[in-house]
Amino acid sequence: MTSYDIPDHSYPLQTSTTINDSFDTEYVYNMGAKAIPCEAYIPENGNINAQLRTKLQMVRIMQQLDGWCTVSKASILMDLVFIFQPRVIVEIGVWGGKSLIPMALAVKNNSSGKVYGIDPWSATSSIEGQDGENKDWWQAADHNQVYDKLVEQLARCDLNSVVTLIRKESQDAAPIPNIDILHIDGNHSDKTSYEDVRKWLPLVGMGKLVIFDDTTWSSIDRALPLLNEYCIKLAEFKGENTWGIWLKVKEVPTEIE
Ligand SMILES: C[S@@+](CC[C@H](N)C(=O)[O-])C[C@H]1O[C@@H](n2cnc3c(N)ncnc32)[C@H](O)[C@@H]1O
Repeated sequence: MTSYDIPDHSYPLQTSTTINDSFDTEYVYNMGAKAIPCEAYIPENGNINAQLRTKLQMVRIMQQLDGWCTVSKASILMDLVFIFQPRVIVEIGVWGGKSLIPMALAVKNNSSGKVYGIDPWSATSSIEGQDGENKDWWQAADHNQVYDKLVEQLARCDLNSVVTLIRKESQDAAPIPNIDILHIDGNHSDKTSYEDVRKWLPLVGMGKLVIFDDTTWSSIDRALPLLNEYCIKLAEFKGENTWGIWLKVKEVPTEIE
C-alpha cells in the first residue's frame, strides 16, 4: 500500500486556495501529517482522539452509502463542523447521505446541533431541467430505494436525534432560519440552482458558511455570481468534482429579486 503526502493544515480557511482532491478511500485524512492506512487507526481501546475516531467511522460508513461525496470532501465538511460547532446545518440534495451522514456524525460528536436534509427523492424533480445521459440516469434511478436505505442507515448510525429529513423540493420546504452551514448540492439546473441561492442564502447567518458543489458546471452560471455578490469564496477544491466554501459577508435582502 502507498501513502500520500497531504498539505499541512493548508485548508480550508485561506482565500481561494485550490486543493487537489486525490485521496483514496483506503486512507483517512489525519489532520496535518501523512495519510496513514486506516488499519493503523483502529485500535479497539486505543487512546485516539474522539474526532479522529468519528472520521474513521465516517470512512467505514461511506463505503455503504450511495452518492458522490468523496472521503476527502467528507473529511473537510467534518472539520468545518468540528471547528465552527454549527447549531443548524441545511443540506439541499441529500441522495444516499454521503455528504449528510459525515456532517451528522461530526454534529453528534460535538453534542449539539441539527442537520436538516432537504430532498424530494423524486425522479420528476431530478430530471427537471436535465437532458441527455444525465436525464436518463436520473429517470432510471430508484429514488424510493435510495431514500429507504438512507433511513435505515440513519437509524443504524444512531443519528435520528441529529438529522431531520424533509422530503420536499428545496423550493417547497419551509424556510429554516439562522443557518450556520448551508450545503447546496441539489438539482444543478440553471433554474433550480439559482433559486436555491435566492431562497436559502438570506437564511444563512452573517459570517456563516455556504458550501456549493460542482462549481464548474455551466448550468450554475447564474447561481455563482449571486453567491459571490454576498459571500467571499474561501476555498475551492478540485478533484472528482469541483466544489467550494463561501463565507457570507453581506446582508442579503429577504427576497432577492
Ligand atoms: C448530486 S445529488 C446529491 C448528492 C449528495 N449530496 C452527495 O454528496 O452524495 C442531487 C440530489 O438533489 C436532489 N434534488 C433534485 N431536485 C431537487 C430539488 N428541487 N430540491 C432539492 N433536492 C433536489 C436529488 O434527489 C438528488 O438526491
